[in-house]
Amino acid sequence: MKVTVVGAGNVGATCANVLAFKEIADEVVMLDIKEGVSEGKAMDMMQTVQLLGIDTRIIGCTNDYSKTANSDVVVITSGIPRKPGMTREELLGVNAGIVKGVAENILKYSPNTIIVCISNPMDTMTYLTLKALGLPKNRVIGMGGALDSSRFKYFLAQAIGCNAGEVEGFVIGGHGDTTMIPMARFATYKGMPVSNFLSAEKIEEVVKSTMVGGATLTGLLGTSAWYAPGAAGAYVVEAILHDQKKMIPCSVLLEGEYGESDLCIGVPVILGKNGIEKIVELDLNAEEKEKFAASAKSVKGNVAALKDLKLV
Ligand code: 2OP
Repeated sequence: MKVTVVGAGNVGATCANVLAFKEIADEVVMLDIKEGVSEGKAMDMMQTVQLLGIDTRIIGCTNDYSKTANSDVVVITSGIPRKPGMTREELLGVNAGIVKGVAENILKYSPNTIIVCISNPMDTMTYLTLKALGLPKNRVIGMGGALDSSRFKYFLAQAIGCNAGEVEGFVIGGHGDTTMIPMARFATYKGMPVSNFLSAEKIEEVVKSTMVGGATLTGLLGTSAWYAPGAAGAYVVEAILHDQKKMIPCSVLLEGEYGESDLCIGVPVILGKNGIEKIVELDLNAEEKEKFAASAKSVKGNVAALKDLKLV
């Protein structure tokens, strides 16, 4: 099984490294526009193969899309990351043209591939890839919800004082500081509601920390985070490639589900060999419905910007 990661920056290289380290694919191709960067990172990773006892082949190339031919899944991380104080949405103008060009090139060599979008603003880039290339909706997936849910579980575990693996929880809505919706009502620790262990104030604090999770890291690092975004990308790829039928919140095209249409936004989906195999509709309460509608409205503002730029 072959996976291509486009963009060998921090997020792309981390994603490729996790794919290789966990032997999720037999072959991982990294492609970047910067001469030598992918080749160098691939060689560096290949020199870990013996140390780690793994068997993945990692190949780097500079803008040579022929090397990506027949990829089962392609992860797009291209574009510029945000700097401290920037929102993900501010990247739209620059990243939209880059992502569209990348997706066009990818499809020339892997016409049947499934595409996982990580580039920001992630929901909008997912919509752009889907619509500009006229792909079926099961084949284009934004990974934001996987990352945001992982951050939510981390903050819940920190508050409870347990291992994040013992916590269940997920985030829906847009992948933005004000648009994501950590679903506290559904969050559990060892099968019990987290409200059994945390006060309402503490849960609210966890929700707020989750929503600005990316911005907090951007402030600390001076650029956007990469370990969790890269690993979240690999987690989504694994569910598809290994036909795991896992339920993961991802950004997908809605056509009436949750009362919304003509946008990509995070909702729980079942991922398997066909990409999105099912959109899971949750029974939201009135407050959650209101939050979801507000999130969708905001994400749709970016869709309108894409239309204004005549990109879709
Ligand atoms: C983040 O939230 C990169 O958008 C990504 O860290």
